[in-house]
Amino acid sequence: MVAMTKALNMEYSFQRYLLAKQSVDDRALNKDVLNALKLNLPQQPIRIIEVGAGIGTMLRRLARWDVIQRAEYVMVDEMAENAAYASEWAKVWAEEAGLSVEGSGKRLRLFDERRDIRIRFERADVFDFIQKNQTRADLLIAHAFLDLLPMPESLPKLLSLTKELAWLTINFDGVTTFEPTIDAALDAQIERLYHKTMDARPRGGDSRSGRHLFGHLRKAGAEVLAAGASDWVVYALNGNYPDDEAYFLRFILRFFEESLAGHPELDAEAFASWLRERRAQIERGELTYIAHQMDFLAGAPSSAWRR
Ligand SMILES: C[S@@+](CC[C@H](N)C(=O)[O-])C[C@H]1O[C@@H](n2cnc3c(N)ncnc32)[C@H](O)[C@@H]1O
Repeated sequence: MVAMTKALNMEYSFQRYLLAKQSVDDRALNKDVLNALKLNLPQQPIRIIEVGAGIGTMLRRLARWDVIQRAEYVMVDEMAENAAYASEWAKVWAEEAGLSVEGSGKRLRLFDERRDIRIRFERADVFDFIQKNQTRADLLIAHAFLDLLPMPESLPKLLSLTKELAWLTINFDGVTTFEPTIDAALDAQIERLYHKTMDARPRGGDSRSGRHLFGHLRKAGAEVLAAGASDWVVYALNGNYPDDEAYFLRFILRFFEESLAGHPELDAEAFASWLRERRAQIERGELTYIAHQMDFLAGAPSSAWRR
């Protein structure tokens, strides 16, 4: 009961959600696609642009996994709170990882005798950034981002940011599952309506962006070098979720609540009771959540990306 009350009163912080998502993404990222990225990465130092970078969890991961050692890393995100958090937080995790830190605000340098990463934080709408960007990257990263954009028209614009490679990860692909079943028909209805809200977002979005990327990339003149599933699979071990994944799950339910509250096709009371029961399942360590997603590594085989 105490835990339930805590969950109901909990503060929803997007930055904490992105922090909590790290361990879920660590498991989910397709390791074959990641290996293809490592094999195809040009000799470092390289220039990387990450769009929709949030608070910079991907940079931390790539440093932690030793994928990048020497790079200029530009992070683009439209939310001022994300850019501010990213800059302060990078100092913390870098020092924990034994890296020295120079600079502050929009520019940081993280380094030791082996590594040298120069970060620039850009608070901007990605399409404004594309307009003013002068130097293309060796690698473009878009992580948990493309399924929020209008497609296919956004893709050639995004690909114009890179001359070599694009690593496009955690693209939602049409399947959400909560276990155990509460009411099969209601579960299915909620999942279906939630996917529809993704397709109807005024700023764009596609609930089947993963599978559609094969065609969109081809049309944009890109070659798929590797592709594979990167499903989120969140479950408790011995009744406990790892790291901060219980918070991650509560936030996912919050997305459902915000997207479907007042939906004309949904019985409001049945939906409220469904949310209550799903939240109780989290507190009891019973809820399993699966979201099907896809990762891609794309390369530029033709002159299509080159100006
Ligand atoms: C689902 S979050 C993913 C963040 C980060 N990639 C991660 O996985 O931790 C999507 C991010 O895209 C940013 N975003 C959404 N639309 C954007 C736009 N048009 N331009 C720049 N950033 C945008 C949001 O502010 C948010 O931080």
